[in-house]
Amino acid sequence: MAKMAAVSLILLLSAFVWHSQAVFNRPNEIKLENNEYTDVLVAIHKDVPEDQRIVDRLKEIFTEASRDLYVATNNRAFFKQVKILIPNTWSKKPEYLPAGTETFERANVRVDVPNPLYGDNPYVQQKGGCGEGGDYMHLTPQYVVDKPYGEMYWGPNGKTFVHEWGHLRWGLFDEYGFDGATGESYPHFYRASVGGVEPTRCSAKVAGNSQHMVTGAPCQLIPATGVYEPECRFYPDFSGNRATASYMFMHFLSEVTGFCHSDPEGDPLSYHNREAPNKHNSVCGGQSAWDVMNKHQDFAGGANRPRAVETTDPDFVLLQQSDFFRIVLVLDVSGSMQGEPIRRLNQVARRFICSTVFFGTSVGVVTFSEDASIDHPVVSVNSPAVRNDLIAAVPTSTGGATCIGCGLLKGIEALEDVGPPQGGVLLLVTDGEENRDPRISDVIPELITKRVIVATIAFSRGADPLLQSLALRTGGLSFFSGIHDSTALDNAFSATFEATAGGKGVKLLSEDKIITGRQTYANHVYVDNTVGENTTFSISWLDGRRPTVTVETPLGLVITEGNPIYDVTSDTITIEIPGTAMPGKWAYNITNNGPDEQNITVIVTSNPLNNNEPITVTAQVSTVSLDYSSSRPTALKIYASVRRGYLPVIGAVVKVLIEKPPHDQVEEITLLDNGAGADGARNDGIYSRYFFGFTANGRYGVSVKVDNTQGDAGYIVINRARSSGAPPLNPDTGYTSGGNVQQEPLEQFQRMTTGGVFEVDGVPSGGVSTRDMLPPSRVDDLAVVEVSYADATVTLRWTALGDDFDQGGPAHYVEIRYGHHFDQLADDFHGSASVNHSQVLQGSLTSPPEPGSAQTIVILVPDRGDNVTFVFAVRMCDEADNCGDPSNIVSANLEFIPEPVYVNDTVAWAIVGCALGVAVLATILALFYCKVWKPRSIKPAKSAQLASANDNPAFVPTV
Ligand SMILES: *[C@@H]1O[C@H](CO)[C@@H](O)[C@H](O)[C@H]1NC(C)=O
Ligand SMILES: *[C@@H]1O[C@H](CO)[C@@H](O)[C@H](O)[C@H]1NC(C)=O
Ligand SMILES: *[C@@H]1O[C@H](CO)[C@@H](O)[C@H](O)[C@H]1NC(C)=O
Ligand SMILES: *[C@@H]1O[C@H](CO)[C@@H](O)[C@H](O)[C@H]1NC(C)=O
Repeated sequence: MAKMAAVSLILLLSAFVWHSQAVFNRPNEIKLENNEYTDVLVAIHKDVPEDQRIVDRLKEIFTEASRDLYVATNNRAFFKQVKILIPNTWSKKPEYLPAGTETFERANVRVDVPNPLYGDNPYVQQKGGCGEGGDYMHLTPQYVVDKPYGEMYWGPNGKTFVHEWGHLRWGLFDEYGFDGATGESYPHFYRASVGGVEPTRCSAKVAGNSQHMVTGAPCQLIPATGVYEPECRFYPDFSGNRATASYMFMHFLSEVTGFCHSDPEGDPLSYHNREAPNKHNSVCGGQSAWDVMNKHQDFAGGANRPRAVETTDPDFVLLQQSDFFRIVLVLDVSGSMQGEPIRRLNQVARRFICSTVFFGTSVGVVTFSEDASIDHPVVSVNSPAVRNDLIAAVPTSTGGATCIGCGLLKGIEALEDVGPPQGGVLLLVTDGEENRDPRISDVIPELITKRVIVATIAFSRGADPLLQSLALRTGGLSFFSGIHDSTALDNAFSATFEATAGGKGVKLLSEDKIITGRQTYANHVYVDNTVGENTTFSISWLDGRRPTVTVETPLGLVITEGNPIYDVTSDTITIEIPGTAMPGKWAYNITNNGPDEQNITVIVTSNPLNNNEPITVTAQVSTVSLDYSSSRPTALKIYASVRRGYLPVIGAVVKVLIEKPPHDQVEEITLLDNGAGADGARNDGIYSRYFFGFTANGRYGVSVKVDNTQGDAGYIVINRARSSGAPPLNPDTGYTSGGNVQQEPLEQFQRMTTGGVFEVDGVPSGGVSTRDMLPPSRVDDLAVVEVSYADATVTLRWTALGDDFDQGGPAHYVEIRYGHHFDQLADDFHGSASVNHSQVLQGSLTSPPEPGSAQTIVILVPDRGDNVTFVFAVRMCDEADNCGDPSNIVSANLEFIPEPVYVNDTVAWAIVGCALGVAVLATILALFYCKVWKPRSIKPAKSAQLASANDNPAFVPTV
């Protein structure tokens, strides 16, 4: 029991850290106070052509959504203030306020060109578990502008928005069955414990009927699964439905005005259906939407009680991004920076000005010790001479006390010298605790009022803990870099620039190497064909003689000293490949020319080619501060998103290096995109893993390395046959093949980035011994893959988990329990019958496979025949009998089902049907298909065609 409690605490913990979700690329923080959501940020991407209708329509959509949200939350929440960020590529207007910390990347709602996986279908990028909010909602310009089109396919704009808000804000999941483009699959039907086949729905009172999506014929049972054929769908009765929930199921039905709840006294028409095998129940362990919402900070403990309001109309604030990006380096030159720290800082700052900062950016330099000075005013970097001036201003010497507040105030002053400071960035690098007034806390209010972003780099474990909250409160990023670690410092500089300036530079490689005297170090880097412009090798050292570098191109040309592109400036060798570097393997050798060992930093950067979406990686950690105590084993999640544009890159090798206190040891873990353990969804390009190897209190730094040197990676593309927006004519085309992910192979590539820092407290001295203290994670993808009446067997499958959460070696054993009644198994797992060894015909209960791989078990059941339905749940356990929470529950029917009989040729029938223009059927199907089947994209041209064929208003969802 104690172990179980520990696990639930962990889940709770991750559910409640919503507000501090990620230190890096953190979404804009929305507030809910007094029933009013404020600070909701919507941003239009700069590549979206200027169109005033987008702004006008966004206002309409929010106004409608606010009204619907107020009703859906039982008068507990609505939109009060919405900020719309207009890109700087659009024309300037006097009513636009200048943007401060608002950026497209941080927006809660994005208006951007379609993600090819979803087309114009609104969706939320959701990577966390139950109750953890999503990253952003994505609406396309076409969806926003063309109201009839949006409503035709997805229902009323306001209600669609509230559905997505459920994902984005409260971490709810879909309550319908679906087969997603990335291979995720949840059944459309299931065997209910009351008997019979039920559609996956919430509430169970939603009216409609089930039929074959191509032929319209009644659904037939399939012997191998005991449920309907894969092409069978539930069609709602638009006019006859009386069910009032749920928004996460069919929000577009006119009677649906709320979320499912589990209050026995409440409205039975919106009562939660916990048996439905949808993603929401699987991930949230059968909790209703309201159960989850009531644990969210918005409503927990009765917060934001129902309140009557005069209007739910939101106020809108229009902001526009500034044309020029300003960054002031605010550098610590106090006495404690003496020696290696200042030399390293100098080197990295110079490299930053030289190669990271792009043409036209404005840069200034401020230094501080016991007071501060502007060492170089903010100027636009528009010539090599300006770059050199700035580089010359980067400090080399130190002395005195530490007044961080002085530095920040000088930074504001430097920004104000060239115009209004809002939106300007101060990049603060410091190693020390402040010991002079004014303090950080004294200047935070001014920074917030003037809307200046502060990114902080703690250049020592001793640096002031306030640095993280300073960044958090002003919208900046926060990093930690060890003294000897040039690459972490360099990554922090470039990540700040990318996140705030929208820089497009791509880091291919960064490494710190110790090379012994007179030795040569050889390595290589892959340049892929999505990048290549101005590829730069930069090699730096602090001590010893100048090393010699040779670089060999994929064609075998050797670049070395004496080549005009081989530049040596003080302690850095730079080789910039002119034009576009050829894709392929670039080898390099570095020779230490001195007798002693030498620490060398290698950084290789490149830029995307025009018209080519580069592969990018961004990293996040689930929380910035964590309180560990041995009575409460705890972990955080680390995420890395690998994409090409919006398309997920799968099959890449993603490794995280965690720099740990007290001595900067590095632990390496591999992140997985397998939908198990910490990973929310398989094949979404977001690789995740738990981390719990805490060694001591203090700051932990995270950097991420992605490579495809094995050549196994690819990016997901839409399978045209499955995503064209019309039902497939051939029932054989992969409708249920959840694993049938379409991908384009990628050539070899490498990327690096940083995931920022997190801070841990309460670690027992000597560190955390995780050995068999932590249970395996909860299984949430248990599925019935086959049922056999003849053999009286059920085949179950799930993704195996590790000994400790999702890692360590394989778990020790598996416990499978079953029964006839869903409620009994759900409420009393331990009291239900367990599957014993003699019932296992294939697979094994005692030797689970490697974590992350599929585990399949064939079970002999004790009974079969009419009305015989079994329900199953599993949990995985370790050697010390620590077990995960019970999995999602699945059901299997053991009655005799004859082979279904099909009309001679279903395919021909359907073709003829369509060709003859059985428009009504086609339209119902198209409508239904697009609206309900969210994760599938539709092709606008085709949809428009179908839409215009629709002249039967009965099938258009009513507003
Ligand atoms: C590449 O370098 C050239 C010459 O320095 C410059 O004009 C161009 O803007 C650079 N391209 C990028 C993407 O930085
Ligand atoms: C690096 O050194 C090895 C061994 O001396 C040599 O075979 C290789 O060609 C060198 N590569 C480059 C790029 O100079
Ligand atoms: C080189 O790096 C190592 C570990 O990062 C460090 O212990 C050592 O002091 C460094 N040596 C020099 C000469 O900087
Ligand atoms: C199966 O259940 C149905 C409805 O619950 C009932 O009418 C029927 O008699 C049952 N059949 C058997 C064999 O128990």
